[in-house]
Amino acid sequence: MRPLIRQIQIDQAVDCLKKGGLVAMPTETVYGLAADASNDAAIRKIFAAKGRPVDHPLIVHIASAKGLTHWAIDIPDYALKLADQYWPGPMTLILKKQAHVLDSITGGQDTVGLRVPNHAVAQQLLKAFGGGLAAPSANKFGHISPTSAEHVRQHLSNVIDIILDGGNCGIGIESTIIDCTGTSPRILRPGMITLETGGHGGAAPTSRPRVSGDLASHYAPRTTTRLLSAEAIDDKLKNSQNVAVLSTRKYITHHVKLYDTRVPHRAPSIDPNISHWIVMPTDPHAYAHRLYEQLHFADSLGCQEILIEQVPDTAEWSGILDRITKASRGESCAHP
Ligand code: TXA
Ligand code: MG
Repeated sequence: MRPLIRQIQIDQAVDCLKKGGLVAMPTETVYGLAADASNDAAIRKIFAAKGRPVDHPLIVHIASAKGLTHWAIDIPDYALKLADQYWPGPMTLILKKQAHVLDSITGGQDTVGLRVPNHAVAQQLLKAFGGGLAAPSANKFGHISPTSAEHVRQHLSNVIDIILDGGNCGIGIESTIIDCTGTSPRILRPGMITLETGGHGGAAPTSRPRVSGDLASHYAPRTTTRLLSAEAIDDKLKNSQNVAVLSTRKYITHHVKLYDTRVPHRAPSIDPNISHWIVMPTDPHAYAHRLYEQLHFADSLGCQEILIEQVPDTAEWSGILDRITKASRGESCAHP
């Protein structure tokens, strides 16, 4: 069950943000490292804490779509429809920025990324704060994004003033980013909102997911990670004794320890003679929810390699495929 955040913790977090501090904020996608979006010095602290290059722009989180016009200009009708349909939710809109939006947020571009998160604690914080919160994922640049307060603590506790624990993130991978500066929407980073499965009520025209070159940051474990076909993984297991596998199948043999993602598991003591097989959910939403949690777990096992089994190349898996491709830093044979 999600731990409750008491009002006093929200008050302390707001106070900290107003003074230019950093607060780890749970959202439905991943935990964010939040700072006051109108405070240049606070924004710079985010980049220092993450070790993030300054030309990687940040998403501004707002309490509701009513705040759109404070941050953006020239908002096309299709963007308003998307906001109406998917916010609060795991979607970021890239729009032309208002003149006051800080260059430190936009990386000097004339656009700004905006998102209304769908998490009770993020909503509580944003409403109490009253302004926008710039927040990248609360991990060191290039590493796996955090989906629990414990992940944030492990990687960034020494540089964050307050960590708000809102439990495990429901969606589990970062928001879908949609460029709304052209005549039709264009997906820059795929996520669990695909537009193709978007349901009813004036959904925007479909756009094939595309990963922009300048968004090609990684989501990588420390352990060498490969994306392989089922056959290639089975072959590897015949010869390797010390790998961790993420697969939706089960593989049963004596030197392989099996994990069910529905049951919490802790890393056993490191044993170079066994391999670890993590049985991932077959439903893409459940898979996304577990992905970073299980990558963090696999990374803690001290194995020689993490092997991720290829997932279907369909729209509903596109966000997952994007993240596991980046996690494997191109060390893949995606379609052997
Ligand atoms: O789900 C999410 O989006 C999470 C939670 C915390 O909201 N945030 C997140 O932030 O993933 P971050 O900083 O790890 O990734 C934000 C991405 C970056 O790839 C950045 O380049 C892109 O958003 N982005 C932000 N503003 C942009 C802009 N104006 N134009 C193009 N891309 C932008
Ligand atoms: Mg990130």
